[in-house]
Amino acid sequence: MDTFHVLRAVLFGLFHLCLYESNVWSFLLDGPTAPCPRPATHCMLETFNVVVQDLGCLGCQTGCQPGYIMTANARYYVTTGSLVGHYDYKGILIDNSKNVSEPQWLCEPGTTCPWGHFLDKMGSIESCSYCGQGCQTCQSFSKCDGCILGFRLTKTTLANGNEESHCATSGIPCPNPPDHCQHDVYANAVVGCQGCIFCEDGYLPTVNRYYRRSPQNKTSDYVYKGLTISGTIDINEPRYVCVQGRTCPVGYHNVSRGNLMTCEADLQVG
Ligand SMILES: *[C@@H]1O[C@H](CO)[C@@H](O)[C@H](O)[C@H]1NC(C)=O
Ligand SMILES: *[C@@H]1O[C@H](CO)[C@@H](O)[C@H](O)[C@H]1NC(C)=O
Ligand SMILES: *[C@@H]1O[C@H](CO)[C@@H](O)[C@H](O)[C@H]1NC(C)=O
Repeated sequence: MDTFHVLRAVLFGLFHLCLYESNVWSFLLDGPTAPCPRPATHCMLETFNVVVQDLGCLGCQTGCQPGYIMTANARYYVTTGSLVGHYDYKGILIDNSKNVSEPQWLCEPGTTCPWGHFLDKMGSIESCSYCGQGCQTCQSFSKCDGCILGFRLTKTTLANGNEESHCATSGIPCPNPPDHCQHDVYANAVVGCQGCIFCEDGYLPTVNRYYRRSPQNKTSDYVYKGLTISGTIDINEPRYVCVQGRTCPVGYHNVSRGNLMTCEADLQVG
């Protein structure tokens, strides 16, 4: 996200907080509403799980059923294409920067925040706010502690002396992004496409045997969209892909590092 989007997200959060504090949430429902195309599930109340003008589908705006935690949905914000102007959803005009198919607030199972989110408050309700693109764990929006594989932690010192940290990318998307991935994937110089380390529910991040070229297929270093890639790596093959299953496939075993688990290839004998 660039500064504009960061600022907008922060202002939008403050705006919502003010609305909530003065108990006038219902003001949002004054205009026309429509059912959400993909409503959020396990909301405490369905009141805001509707499409409203400009904002799209608000989702679980007032908290979740027991056993679920109110979580900001990063996919609610559209980041590609023209972000100014509006589109029409069933006669309701929505900002181009909001995806009507993605509720702003979801209820995720559990009582702790999912990866990429930090514990925050919406009025008196505990909620999980978004750390920012590519950030695995953070203290607050502009203070990332660690990035997911393929992203690089970058620190900047602001004019007021405060330090911010974000996760940067090469800006070059992987040529073959893995299906069923929860995050964007980018190519990097030398190591190519690191692929997916947080897959959708029901899929596990699994090392791809074709990421490293076989000795016969090795080349000299080559250039992909301005990035120099090692000739031992195939840029078309992500290092981790999402494989369906609750346990690692045969020939792989799981390795855990903190809240991250991947399936790594067993050593081949013979
Ligand atoms: C909006 O969300 C839907 C559902 O996740 C997705 O298929 C679609 O590509 C998204 N559209 C944009 C413009 O991001
Ligand atoms: C070498 O690359 C080709 C084309 O990508 C592939 O079909 C072949 O299986 C590879 N050979 C080995 C030994 O991996
Ligand atoms: C991880 O490996 C352990 C030990 O082999 C196994 O008991 C467990 O079921 C595995 N978990 C997953 C999710 O594959």
